Order: sequence, then C-alpha cells, then structure tokens
Amino acid sequence: MNDLKLNELITAPWYHMDEIPSTNQYLLEIDSSQTPSGTTCSANIQTHGNGRNDRKWHSPVGGLYLSVLFKLCTTEYWNLFPFVCGLAAADAIEHCCPAAHVSLKWPNDLLIDKQKVGGILVQGSIGTNPRLVAGIGINVNSDLSGIPERPIFPAATLNSMVPQAPEIQNLAYWCRYRLFEYFLKWEAQPTFVIAQWTKRSIITNRRITFQTSQSTITGYCRGIDSDGRLLIDTERSQSAFISGDILAIGER
Ligand code: BTN
Repeated sequence: MNDLKLNELITAPWYHMDEIPSTNQYLLEIDSSQTPSGTTCSANIQTHGNGRNDRKWHSPVGGLYLSVLFKLCTTEYWNLFPFVCGLAAADAIEHCCPAAHVSLKWPNDLLIDKQKVGGILVQGSIGTNPRLVAGIGINVNSDLSGIPERPIFPAATLNSMVPQAPEIQNLAYWCRYRLFEYFLKWEAQPTFVIAQWTKRSIITNRRITFQTSQSTITGYCRGIDSDGRLLIDTERSQSAFISGDILAIGER
C-alpha cells in the first residue's frame, strides 16, 4: 500500500451537510480541477437521492449517504471500479458490525441474510480528466415504510440485522477509508477485484434467472470478467452481460 497516496486521499476535504439533493450530484457538479481526489460529501438526508437504473434512493434520516470523488490516472479496467466500491463498503460494514456477513448481488447490492441493506452508484465521466464519483447508500436506522416492495432481496435496515447498529459517522469513516485502500490496490493491480468479488457474490455458481432488455435466460453464474460483465453458463454456451436484472436465484 502506498502510504503517501493514502494520506493524500485521507486528507482531502470532507463536506458534511444536513440536507442536500444528492451527495453524488454535489460532487459531480464541483469544479474537479480545484478539488483533489478523495474529496467527500455526506449528508443526514438526501431529498433527491439517486439509485441505479434511474431509480430513486429513499434517503430519510437514519441512513448513510456518502460520495467520494476519484480522479483516475488511467481508464483501463474502469468498468471494474463499481465492484471495488462494493467490496470496500462490504468490508466497512463488517468492520463496524463484526457479527454481520455481507454478500454482494451483481453488480454491487449490499446484502445481509438475503436482504438489501445498501447499494452503490458510480457516476462520472471517463473522457479527458477521467473522474468517477462513488456513492454509497446504507439503511442504518432508516424508516423504510413507503419504499417500493422488491420481489427478491427485500430492503432492510442494518439495525434490524445486527445486534448493535453502528454510529453512522463511524461507518461513513470506515467506508471512506476502505474505499481509499481498495482504490489504491485496484490502481496497482486492477484485476484483483475479479476473484474477490466472485468470492463475496451471493450468486456465484448458483443457477440464476437473468433478464436483459432483450431476453430472459437461465444458467449458472460464474462471476465477472475483466470488463465487469456477469458471466452466465447456459446449456449451450457462456454469455457475458453488462446490464440486466437477476429475477431468481436457485440451487448450486
Ligand atoms: C442502488 O440503486 O442500489 C444504489 C444506491 C446508491 C445510493 C447512494 S446514497 C449516496 C449517493 N448519492 C446518491 O444520490 N446516490 C448514492
């Protein structure tokens, strides 16, 4: 681990707001030429929290809403970056809640006992001056009434899944710290993520039903490739998917 780089990231500014539309949006709009990598925004409440696939992210008080800006030296393997964030957040939750085992559902939903306690949204641009914003949302003590029902992996709060809920600020500190550690490891050796994610994933080697915009397929999940695509073995061949939804998970 490069201690100098880690220290640079840790000492970048961290803005904490009471209420904000979206912590990701805040960092996407900041002048990144004036702002170092590692700059962080967190909030007690988001009024327009964003989730994956243009969904809203329910963001009342009691949740963790954290975003971190990363400036990339290279865009090679950038598709693996969201998995870096999922692994970092999973590690941070386990650090703060030692009784928890966090698994990941492709691409990087954070699950405990098959219930979704959090998610990751990576946004940004990879043209000139590539920069990505890693957004982490975790339901810690939040009131989840009013959020849409999910057919599988229902939403849950961390405090209902572990003996003692962590302090949100402490969890935010560890999410940020683990993000930096994983980011530096990824910069040095991008493909380390593949094996680690495959190990943490709840669907690895299981029979899954997967829906894309074109079709629905059933087959065995074999992890991800170096582009972050989900690998599924069907009876005839192996296919790789960049987007889609898991509809069902079956046996090994
Ligand atoms: C998902 O759909 O599972 C991803 C949810 C990501 C939510 C987080 S909360 C902090 C950051 N700001 C946002 O607007 N979204 C992300």
